[in-house]
Amino acid sequence: MRVVFLSALSLCGAVLAQSSVDSYVASESPIAKAGMLANIGATGSRSGGAKAGVVIASPSTVDPDYLFTWVRDSSLVFKVIIDQFTSGEDTTLLGQIQNFVSAERALQQVSNPSGTVSTGGLGEPKFNIDESAFTGSWGRPQRDGPALRATAMITYANWLLKNTSASNVVSTLWPVIKLDLDYVAASWNQTGFDLWEEISSSSFFTTAAQHRSLREGAALATALGQTSVVSAYETQAANALCFLQSYWNPSGGYMTSNTGGGRSGKDANTALASIHTFDPAAGCDAATFQPCSDKALASLKVYVDAFRSIYTVNQGIAANAAVATGRYPEDVYMGGNPWYLTTAAVAEQLYDALIVWKAQGSLNVTATSLPFFKQFQSSVTAGNYAASSPTFTTLTSGVKTFADGFLAIHAKYTPTDGALAEQFNRNTGAPLSAVHLTWSYAAALTVFAAREGKTRASWGAAGLAVPSTCERNNAGTVAVTFQVTATTVFGENIYLTGSVDALKSWSPDNALLLSAAAYPTWSITVNVPASTVIEYKFIRKVNGVLKSWESDPNNQFTSPANGTQTLSDAWR
Ligand SMILES: *[C@@H]1O[C@H](CO)[C@@H](O)[C@H](O)[C@H]1NC(C)=O
Ligand SMILES: *[C@@H]1O[C@H](CO)[C@@H](O)[C@H](O)[C@H]1NC(C)=O
Ligand SMILES: *[C@@H]1O[C@H](CO)[C@@H](O)[C@H](O)[C@H]1NC(C)=O
Ligand SMILES: *[C@@H]1O[C@H](CO)[C@@H](O)[C@H](O)[C@H]1NC(C)=O
Repeated sequence: MRVVFLSALSLCGAVLAQSSVDSYVASESPIAKAGMLANIGATGSRSGGAKAGVVIASPSTVDPDYLFTWVRDSSLVFKVIIDQFTSGEDTTLLGQIQNFVSAERALQQVSNPSGTVSTGGLGEPKFNIDESAFTGSWGRPQRDGPALRATAMITYANWLLKNTSASNVVSTLWPVIKLDLDYVAASWNQTGFDLWEEISSSSFFTTAAQHRSLREGAALATALGQTSVVSAYETQAANALCFLQSYWNPSGGYMTSNTGGGRSGKDANTALASIHTFDPAAGCDAATFQPCSDKALASLKVYVDAFRSIYTVNQGIAANAAVATGRYPEDVYMGGNPWYLTTAAVAEQLYDALIVWKAQGSLNVTATSLPFFKQFQSSVTAGNYAASSPTFTTLTSGVKTFADGFLAIHAKYTPTDGALAEQFNRNTGAPLSAVHLTWSYAAALTVFAAREGKTRASWGAAGLAVPSTCERNNAGTVAVTFQVTATTVFGENIYLTGSVDALKSWSPDNALLLSAAAYPTWSITVNVPASTVIEYKFIRKVNGVLKSWESDPNNQFTSPANGTQTLSDAWR
């Protein structure tokens, strides 16, 4: 009797949660759409001063100052707009899309601290909203931006190709897309800052976004008859897919978000990678980290669980129910709080998974995803469950309730006017940090669409083979000769180290020994990444023991896109 009563209660709770989420989606959708459009120049009501097609991150100018345009945020926002337009949901958006293309075409050509268009400037993360360069110090380069921008524009190009001639696409959109794809193909194998702009290393989200852009870029190039780039894009896509597998932490059972940074690696990075590389045609493929793949579900659980005990707002919530999630558990930015867009991303991954299971008429529980599924049926074992089985019903309705739970939390901490900031306070739940964050609005729209069962165009993730050995991208290196004049005493030698792997990543122990053949000019030639801002210093060692570094600041240069370069310094 008690059991029946409890299950009736919890069923009732699930239904209540579902209907309250239904009404939240209904009321918040138009607010999120309007909030997103308000942050796009030149007509947006909250983006005064932004040029046409320029997306501001937020109108907030103080603590934090987000009145800039980020390539990442803009591209994710316009992917939503382009999806709505190309799917026929909103045919009024064409002018916005054309403005976006023009704005990004201009930004690509703006010389900035990461370089010029041909020397690494495409990796610059953010610009002023009048399309001038932002010259302050920042975590740069960030190599996901060009990939995400290409993905948004390829979605539009594929639509345009059905509407107009290939030659028209080649003369208008293709040059912009090609610049980004050439950059991705040349530089995916170099380190850069992660999507939170804090860690310079390789990053799962970045590699996943790069892989996707190269795949769909190769397909578009083929469709446009631009055959000369196809094999380069396909080769580097295969290399990136190979590298993508290496982020897996087999003992922890999750994808490590960054190869550097010294954190746990549990990060919204993985859920975001999964939803932004979702391909409904790829099933539950784990190599491309599809939302319903065992590795993506295992990673989701590990990531979500990392926030259960650290936020006061999550206290008293059952261990298998939804909680508020943030960027990563070690986060201290603004005190380290849950974010709207990360909590939404978890729900979106789960809705995407439900779409595929329903379409396939079955789901698989593997040893890797077992801990995830045990949250919904503790007795479940690994196996394939057909849609007709009670286990399938129990698991999918458990996942649906779990997913709705994340949106219920999103709803609970959204103020009555529906405005979405960046974060909400870990103790009180009050909105904080940047107001009207454009990405928060875009993320609300994509999770709502996924909940309605909407999918977006396939990008070619189905049936991909992971190469058995991972190749580096050697195409992207150039030979640079470092020369320094330095007088030395007997037993003393000059060494070089710097900011890239090729220069031993600032390790004095592993620093490169220069030749004294032309003493007092010491020299060495090193293959370094092309089109990259590189810092370096010479050091002195006596009988192999470090004696001194050159004085500050570091020497800095941008390596060329191709050819060779010689740098001549005098020891200082
Ligand atoms: C070398 O780089 C420059 C600048 O990006 C470019 O214009 C030129 O075509 C490149 N040459 C070759 C051989 O790739
Ligand atoms: C081409 O674009 C125009 C204007 O947006 C639209 O009216 C027309 O339906 C499109 N044609 C196709 C084949 O998509
Ligand atoms: C470059 O690719 C190789 C081979 O996959 C990999 O071992 C290395 O970590 C990659 N480096 C970066 C910075 O992506
Ligand atoms: C389940 O696994 C089988 C065998 O590995 C595979 O053929 C099938 O596509 C999988 N189904 C799903 C929904 O992942």
